[in-house]
Amino acid sequence: MTTISVDPAGEVLTLNARGVSRRFHAIWLRDNAQDPQTRAPGNGQKMLTMQDIPADTHIGSATLVDRELEIVFLPEDKSVRYDPEWLVAHAYDRTQDQSRGWTAPGITLWDATLRDDLPVGDFNELSNKSTSLCDWLGAVNRYGFGKIANGPVEDGALFGIVDLFGYVRETNYGKLFEVRTEVNPTNLAFTGLGLQAHTDNPYRDPAPTVQVLYCLESSAAGGENMVVDGFAAVQRLRLENEEYFDVLADHAACFEYAGDENTRLSARRPMIELAPDGELISVRFNNRSLATLTDVPFDKMATYYAAYRRLGEIIDDEAMEVTFRLNPGEAFVVDNTRVLHARKGYSGEGTRWLQGCYADKDGLRSTYEVLSGKRVKEGAA
Ligand code: FE2
Repeated sequence: MTTISVDPAGEVLTLNARGVSRRFHAIWLRDNAQDPQTRAPGNGQKMLTMQDIPADTHIGSATLVDRELEIVFLPEDKSVRYDPEWLVAHAYDRTQDQSRGWTAPGITLWDATLRDDLPVGDFNELSNKSTSLCDWLGAVNRYGFGKIANGPVEDGALFGIVDLFGYVRETNYGKLFEVRTEVNPTNLAFTGLGLQAHTDNPYRDPAPTVQVLYCLESSAAGGENMVVDGFAAVQRLRLENEEYFDVLADHAACFEYAGDENTRLSARRPMIELAPDGELISVRFNNRSLATLTDVPFDKMATYYAAYRRLGEIIDDEAMEVTFRLNPGEAFVVDNTRVLHARKGYSGEGTRWLQGCYADKDGLRSTYEVLSGKRVKEGAA
């Protein structure tokens, strides 16, 4: 049973549905009216500015009519209908009791055990079947990582992966960058050394949010790729030592890159980035591009370095990493705001050729939302 009540001033409406009470402010309700004068029927965009709504907006009357809630707002004398289920789904009347570093409900943190259940998509299936693509993009959203197999072995094939969900983000490296390694252990200069797991390009503003790495040649032994869930790593840091988590979240690091005479990139951002309500939204970790730290207060600097060291140890812990080999025609996609990637060292002779590029996470999410919305509609039809 659904009941409603309004306070004497008409400023707050209380909706009681299925035994749960939720309060809504009159100004919030008016702002969220779905009528065609408030929101454009085609694209849902708001037609009003805040100033178009009177500051003294209040509820003149509220009644339940045919399972809908009808509210008359004064002084406009405007009548608007709401679906109570919509209000329940969008209620904000709750206590904020989440700890710093909480993650969105659609995210699953992982460690090395994910290796038995890697999110892998077949390139041809992803290209032809929207259900496969929807599932695979859903996995990339959930885990921040996904692998693709059975793609073509040809120069530029990685663009076919980006085409599945969005657009390439071009940088000073070009539309794509080459990762070629000649492995010859008799000459140290050509030995393929391993790299510590990192997020790419934290010196950009904004940093690239998606990276694709595509394998075209792989005859050298070793050189496996590995990924680490940066969100899981910083959550572990917080559980071990909250002060370490806080110092990395509360102070900006600085990242820089000046690879040639035409490039001077820098960004001042924290290694652990939180939204104002404490949601964990981004991790930046890259030992090669960390610049001189000057924005950490003197009395926090020693703790900052201890925290940075400990975070690096957690990231290097094999219990956190998923390792896999990329063969020609295989690729992986990472959410570069969350998942760190690395290459293991090589042993033996041979060559390895990968191509990489950047893309944007908003496009990936948008494609996923559209495909999953279609699936819901088809399921309901
Ligand atoms: Fe990288």
